[in-house]
Amino acid sequence: MYHDKLDKFPEGFLWGAASAAYQIEGGWDVDGKGPSIWDQFTKIPGKTFQGTNGDIAVDHYHRYKEDVRLMAEMGLKAYRFSVAWSRILPSGKGEVNEKGLLFYENLIDELKRYDIEPVLTLYHWDIPQALQDEYQGWESREVIDDFDHYARILFERFKDKVKYWVSFNEQNVFTALGYRWEAHPPNIADVKRMFEANHIINLANAKAINSFHELVPNGMIGPSFGYGPMYSLDCEPNNVLAALNGEEFQNHWWLDVYVNGKYPKVTFKQLEKLGVAPSIKDGDLELLQSAKPDFLGVNYYHGGTVRANEIEFPLQESEADLEKDFQATDPYLMQPKEEQAQSPEKRMFANVSNPHLEKTKWGWEIDPIGIRIALRRLQNRYHLPMMVTENGLGAYDHLTEQRTIEDDYRINYLKEHIVEIQKALTDGVELLGYCAWSFTDLLSWLNGYQKRYGFVYIDRDEQDEKELERIPKKSYYWYKKLIETNGNLV
Ligand code: NOJ
Repeated sequence: MYHDKLDKFPEGFLWGAASAAYQIEGGWDVDGKGPSIWDQFTKIPGKTFQGTNGDIAVDHYHRYKEDVRLMAEMGLKAYRFSVAWSRILPSGKGEVNEKGLLFYENLIDELKRYDIEPVLTLYHWDIPQALQDEYQGWESREVIDDFDHYARILFERFKDKVKYWVSFNEQNVFTALGYRWEAHPPNIADVKRMFEANHIINLANAKAINSFHELVPNGMIGPSFGYGPMYSLDCEPNNVLAALNGEEFQNHWWLDVYVNGKYPKVTFKQLEKLGVAPSIKDGDLELLQSAKPDFLGVNYYHGGTVRANEIEFPLQESEADLEKDFQATDPYLMQPKEEQAQSPEKRMFANVSNPHLEKTKWGWEIDPIGIRIALRRLQNRYHLPMMVTENGLGAYDHLTEQRTIEDDYRINYLKEHIVEIQKALTDGVELLGYCAWSFTDLLSWLNGYQKRYGFVYIDRDEQDEKELERIPKKSYYWYKKLIETNGNLV
């Protein structure tokens, strides 16, 4: 540790928590809402844990006042949530559903009543099913104007109430899981289509950011990216090169486009060679270059460790163990074995377990120092202010007989990450805030309600009037204290 003393968190630092519409709202078909691709996908047998879905979720749609009151009692400074496109435009375009818009207006007003800064995400994975049916959603260029139309409705309505906006949440994750691994809707396994969809989403992102700058000149908008720093397994130069490839392929591939409107060259050439590069039309790069985000949202859970690919560089015995150890259960790195041999990144790098890191029950590496590395790397490359828009621990929580939840493991996890963030601030990183994932327990897309992230426990076991009762966990009171002291843990 080379700092004698850590800087304090700046005044006005946004201590927050985050959520997403499909994971909390429920009310999936009320007040004129149309179905989204998640409403349809979760009904396909075998796709989610025990067939769980978000029809009711944690019923935030009807209980938002109670939830905001809990946020206020905790002293939360910011709350990140997403808007369900199909509440605003049930068929994705055309007439506005005023009742849907009103729900978010009421939520925003309620937050502001308690001085909680709203952070609004435009897209957290739930495109209207109507657009999927009509033209295959993100695979058609028609979606660019439809997304812009939707975004402009929100910009116009909330421009005086909401300062911080997130355009797309984790484009890297929802396109990989949706178009490559058949794990999320639209349930496709086709690498070429994944890259094409990504390019179209990039264009939609750029167009909406330009509209934002026209309509909300005093606000700030940026994408939230699921960032994980890539490490080399060791200092063998081929492995170091593989880590460079990994960083470009898994991270710069999106971030360079968001910030500079350019695809990184090495990856683009590799994809061209394999015939899976996206088709770039006249005017596309100009559009991408015209739209610069005002900040970067960083969702951080962990990074990835890689070595050179084993076709060119046969595995050492110790490395083979690590590769075996690497579990393909993680959406950020998931790579089914059969696919690996042909996949574009396989030729550039191979994922292995990091021998220095422990894992959560779901096989996700726990790496607090990685968040400092992430923030440092992102600042050096993109020179934008950042906001941590997600970070947290998914765990099985236990409700005691006294109806408490002693989640010290979550407190430790968050504390370790927040200390590393404070070190990053002391290094000179510019950070607007930190939103822990998540405020209440919520639907884990594929893992149902068993994997819990929240500060507030949702009791799902009782069939009486207490159903979905909110119970603050030990971590809730810890975070409240942390906010009171403006994060000065050390
Ligand atoms: C990131 C996603 O944005 C969020 O929706 C998800 O629940 C968390 N990761 C945890 O998996």
